[in-house]
Amino acid sequence: MTIRETVLARFAQVYGHDAQYLVRAPGRANLIGEHTDYNEGFVMPLAVNRAVWMAVAPREDDQICVFTIDYGDELVSIPTNQVQEPIWPHWTTYIRGAWWLMQQQGQNPCGADILIGSDIPIGGGMSSSAAIGVASIEAVLALLGDNRYTQKQKALLAVDIEHKFTGVPVGVMDQMASAIPEGPYAILLDCRSLETEPVVIPQQASIVVINSMKPRQLVDSEYALRRQQCEDAAKILGVKSLRDATLDLVNQYASTLGDVLLRRARHVVTENERTLKMRDVLMSENLTQAGELINNSHYSLRDDYEVSIQELDILTEKARQHQACFGARIMGGGFGGCAVSLVQREQVSGFVDAVKEQYAAATGLQAEFYVCEPTAGSSVEFLV
Ligand code: GLA
Repeated sequence: MTIRETVLARFAQVYGHDAQYLVRAPGRANLIGEHTDYNEGFVMPLAVNRAVWMAVAPREDDQICVFTIDYGDELVSIPTNQVQEPIWPHWTTYIRGAWWLMQQQGQNPCGADILIGSDIPIGGGMSSSAAIGVASIEAVLALLGDNRYTQKQKALLAVDIEHKFTGVPVGVMDQMASAIPEGPYAILLDCRSLETEPVVIPQQASIVVINSMKPRQLVDSEYALRRQQCEDAAKILGVKSLRDATLDLVNQYASTLGDVLLRRARHVVTENERTLKMRDVLMSENLTQAGELINNSHYSLRDDYEVSIQELDILTEKARQHQACFGARIMGGGFGGCAVSLVQREQVSGFVDAVKEQYAAATGLQAEFYVCEPTAGSSVEFLV
């Protein structure tokens, strides 16, 4: 059974009637453009072929019932006037957040039966939380019959859940990647204007996400610290955000910035350049250069932005050493988690076997590999 069929079948079993809407919101990989989104810079993520599926039907009473496959298989019930009460499991946070946001806008979404299934690995660095946020927004808007929102606006509502409800200061990349793509390609996203441009990944390359199996640590505090350092650097440079800085400007202010802020700013400036360059090299199908940009992104994240860890350095080095690999780098917030690599499509299985073995020999850890295909962003299927 596909995950789509499983979710619909379990919905009927758990609730005793059929779902009316089926929401799909994919996870994301990020080819390049790391820690640039909150600097109003450029990122190049893609929606991947792993997603959160949410089957939904309205209820006549004011309860939001949520059943999650694979996570304790338990049924949670939340009254619509108590969505602010924190409850476990955390999955419900995004659903409560979506209802809360609509209520803040003066809308009154009804109760609902909801069943969630997902094949995005949790903690696998493919933004399962952002996908649940986007799916929750799609679900509540479908129930309200509200079709005024564009995919971009839906992504921003999902970001609002993080900023205003869960209190996490994320950038816009993950939600945009889950909601926006209209087809099987990456997007170049300008995080200032929020304009997007499709970027086709050449057929002969595969995107392989590798989970180092080293859990992320200190992420929240270090993430907030990096954001603060970027703001401090921008202030010294006299620019609105680091998006507006150039390498010359950064070097000119080297002594005022000091070593740390200089390196933080240099990462953001050069990463924006690399991300824009990536569009051109992919358009000309120059995968060798694309790989170099990815490798340089890693070195910059490791040396200037200091968000890598030893295991990810080893993992990406083993990946890079394989002859089928164009490039590899740490992906996402950092301090553990995942890498992304660009690999010759026909040699993916040899690449996976070799890197898995060498990484295990060096670290004792069993990495997990996810071969990703770009897909379209979130959607709602009306079933009846
Ligand atoms: C996390 C955030 C994103 C982005 C990345 C770093 O994944 O959710 O918004 O800032 O870190 O590029």
